[in-house]
Amino acid sequence: MNRLSRRGFAGLVAAGFTEFALAQKAAVDAMNVVGGKGTVWLNSNEFPEGPPQPALQAITRAGSEANRYHFPEMPKFYQSVASLEGLKSEQVLVGEGSTETLHCAVEAFTSPKHPIICGWPTFESAPELAAAQGHAVVKLPLTSNYTSDVKRLAAEAQKAGGGLIYICNPNNPTGNITPKQDIAWLVQNLPANTVLMMDEAYLHFNTSSDTESSIKYVKDGKNVIVMRTFSKIYGMAGLRVGYAAARPDLIKKMEPFRNAIISIVSARGVMAAIDMGPKLVDERRAKMVNTRNELVSFLKQKKLNYIDPQANFVMFDMKKDIKDVGPAMLAKGVAVGRPFPPYDKMMRITIGTDAEMAKFRTALSEVLGV
Ligand SMILES: Cc1ncc(COP(=O)(O)O)c(C=O)c1O
Repeated sequence: MNRLSRRGFAGLVAAGFTEFALAQKAAVDAMNVVGGKGTVWLNSNEFPEGPPQPALQAITRAGSEANRYHFPEMPKFYQSVASLEGLKSEQVLVGEGSTETLHCAVEAFTSPKHPIICGWPTFESAPELAAAQGHAVVKLPLTSNYTSDVKRLAAEAQKAGGGLIYICNPNNPTGNITPKQDIAWLVQNLPANTVLMMDEAYLHFNTSSDTESSIKYVKDGKNVIVMRTFSKIYGMAGLRVGYAAARPDLIKKMEPFRNAIISIVSARGVMAAIDMGPKLVDERRAKMVNTRNELVSFLKQKKLNYIDPQANFVMFDMKKDIKDVGPAMLAKGVAVGRPFPPYDKMMRITIGTDAEMAKFRTALSEVLGV
């Protein structure tokens, strides 16, 4: 397999991290501003198709009723979301995107003494909020397989007398999975006062049997929270709906920190998509995997090493600085993932439509000269 050699990553991780979140956001904003008409957006891990047709119809109808909050409809909405994974309403907290529920968990389960503990790099939202609040944050380098070192995560939680362990599975930005036996070990060996938060924003895209959803641990009553979103495979990033699945007592601890109820327009769209059953997700995954396989073949052909992808994006080594390559790609009409310091020579690219990926491949060949 033409995968990325560990040495490059280990060296970068050992070199240490800087707080780069604001700079990243500025870079993304700058990219969005300068992206011209016809730009292909492969920078935010969105799905190239939007909400399915029945959801669009439900959204349109809901628009004309949006003068009301629709409080009475919320129990039905919760039941619908919970039914997706065979959960009960009280095992679910719905948020404005899973970002809101990640934030609720940080509020409820971290403090200046009890850290959020995560592998690094990973999705920054939860550790960033903890840091901004003055709560403790522990970032540990990924293992030689680019996964979270579960034994070290547990050891840090033990040392702190408890906290919130955060694993993104598949991980963003690396796109690979945490093996199921590692998750099982961690659940078995969670220190006292410790909650494991599994972010499964991209699990719908996974095809590897080496991992699985941690919702089974929620059903078993463990100290585990699973975050899911409708922003990715459902094509609803702009509608802002995600949820946390957890034991009712953990949900109750997070609930006070949520914003309010969800927009009725978004709720109706989500319910209509859920009513379509698993076929929608299965078909979208199959399509995305075909396109992702094409990209992987291209990277192999160009001898560009990549990390085994199990999400709707791929991280690969360009051998050139992303700060130069990113703007050069944008000038050719392709917006790519932002810099992920210290991985300055890595690009994270979202899987778009076949036509968008063809444009990406042409632009990349020209920019890298490969
Ligand atoms: C790993 C991960 N979790 C959560 C989110 C947040 O998504 P949303 O708030 O749209 O559900 C993202 C967004 O890209 C993500 O990459």
